[in-house]
Amino acid sequence: MVKKGQQSMSSSCNFLLLTIFILAFLSIAFGEQSCSETFIRLIQKRNITNCKTLRTQGAEFAWNYHYNGTNSTILDILFGARLNSPEGWIAWGVNPGKRAEMIGTKAIIGIKYSDGSLIVNTYDITKETKHGCKLLPSPIGLEVSNKSMENDAVSEFYTISARIILPKEYNITRLNHVWQLGYAIADGNQPLRHPTTLHNVDSTETINLTSSSGNSTGQYRSYLRSVHGVLNMMGWGTMLPIGVIIARYFRVYPFKFHPMWFYLHISCQVCGFLTGTAGWIIGLYLGHATRYYTFHTHRTFGILIFTLSTVQMLAFRLKPKQTDDYRKYWNMYHHFLGYGLITIIVINIFKGISIMQGGKGWKWTYFGILIILGSVTITLEIATWARFILSKLEKQKNNKGDNNKTPTS
Ligand code: HEM
Ligand code: HEM
Ligand code: HEM
Repeated sequence: MVKKGQQSMSSSCNFLLLTIFILAFLSIAFGEQSCSETFIRLIQKRNITNCKTLRTQGAEFAWNYHYNGTNSTILDILFGARLNSPEGWIAWGVNPGKRAEMIGTKAIIGIKYSDGSLIVNTYDITKETKHGCKLLPSPIGLEVSNKSMENDAVSEFYTISARIILPKEYNITRLNHVWQLGYAIADGNQPLRHPTTLHNVDSTETINLTSSSGNSTGQYRSYLRSVHGVLNMMGWGTMLPIGVIIARYFRVYPFKFHPMWFYLHISCQVCGFLTGTAGWIIGLYLGHATRYYTFHTHRTFGILIFTLSTVQMLAFRLKPKQTDDYRKYWNMYHHFLGYGLITIIVINIFKGISIMQGGKGWKWTYFGILIILGSVTITLEIATWARFILSKLEKQKNNKGDNNKTPTS
């Protein structure tokens, strides 16, 4: 009874910690961000009052709206981003369809030429555009006036601004909007294909323009990506190493907590395995959901991690008894595979973090976790050696004492 109680208590502790970590992380990752000082300066010049930092490509968006009778809304927008290439384009648009996505977007695109000249036009983005057909200026079925593109020399910020009349099909409390940055252009005001990194494909959302902070939804894929990252980091990257520390330092040396170490080891490994597997399945789903990119190394390591830890889990059924002859070989294989697994996990977590391009927060969070785990390990390793050396010295002393007592003849 006591053992079961101890086991379930440590599992609940694990889950509580995990839940707190996930909630804290997601609230930081998905909180709405206010605008940069540079952008605020630019919007003040135009008397625009609402503003938000978009979640990708360092882009920012500001708007004012007022109803124009019952049938339409007048929307003044300013969209800005840094364009660090000699030529390129920045785009912002609305999508009257069901989803915030590229196809179907009515876009305003500002082009920067290598001689420094700027031009802005409207473009209809269609399925054909995605498949590589020329994208040329065209009417977009919306009244767009006062279009302009500017460059703020101090901050290297490029902005496009316009006044758009949105008919009533566009619900401004749930407006699908899309933004993008490209680094290549062709003759005749033609923007060429943008990169398709995660940041580029995450550049959409459904925004509520009536809320001053621009509350938004529709970021489920990037939300899932963060859940994937947190679950993997906690499951594979934190709980499994904690389980290993317990097996290494609380089994015999420097502390012997028998059989408590065993229950703690398996409860950490089971929690870690289940949490990590949930994250892994989300990763596979995300990888499957887009055909434009695959992260081969991260994927292969991910599959290897799941396979090897499943093999470790087989210990539940295949572990020989302490008295069996081949138990020592099982111990060797379980140790060897366990440490190999932890190494691949740490490498893959950093690979995942670099794919995510989610800023330094992820990297420092995991560095923090590794520093804590590393310090605990070093302390316990020192304790192990200290106890080992002390017991050796004691043995030698006892032996000497015995020798002195032994009669010589
Ligand atoms: C210039 C010609 C363009 C080409 C050839 C092009 C091509 C592509 C391709 C191949 C993808 C697929 C990535 C994926 O689904 O994994 C994509 C995605 C995307 N593009 Fe474009 N694009 C162009 C212009 C634009 C413009 C002007 C915008 C913004 C107004 C834009 C916004 C997006 C967005 C938000 C995505 C994310 C996925 C989606 O919503 O479908 N693209 N683009
Ligand atoms: C992914 C899951 C697992 C990993 C990564 C893992 C890893 C490890 C490692 C690295 C050690 C050696 C620690 C040391 O002394 O240096 C160890 C010891 C041990 N593990 Fe696991 N383990 C896992 C799951 C399990 C499960 C499910 C069981 C039992 C049902 C188990 C039973 C044991 C036992 C009995 C030992 C001590 C072996 C000995 O006497 O030398 N492990 N584990
Ligand atoms: C050891 C732990 C991890 C495992 C086993 C794992 C596994 C996977 C797998 C199997 C995929 C699918 C790859 C594909 O088919 O293209 C994937 C994708 C991904 N993983 Fe991980 N991952 C781990 C850790 C992380 C971490 C810590 C992060 C970020 C902080 C991360 C970020 C990503 C991202 C951004 C994708 C791409 C998702 C997409 O295609 O939209 N991963 N992961």
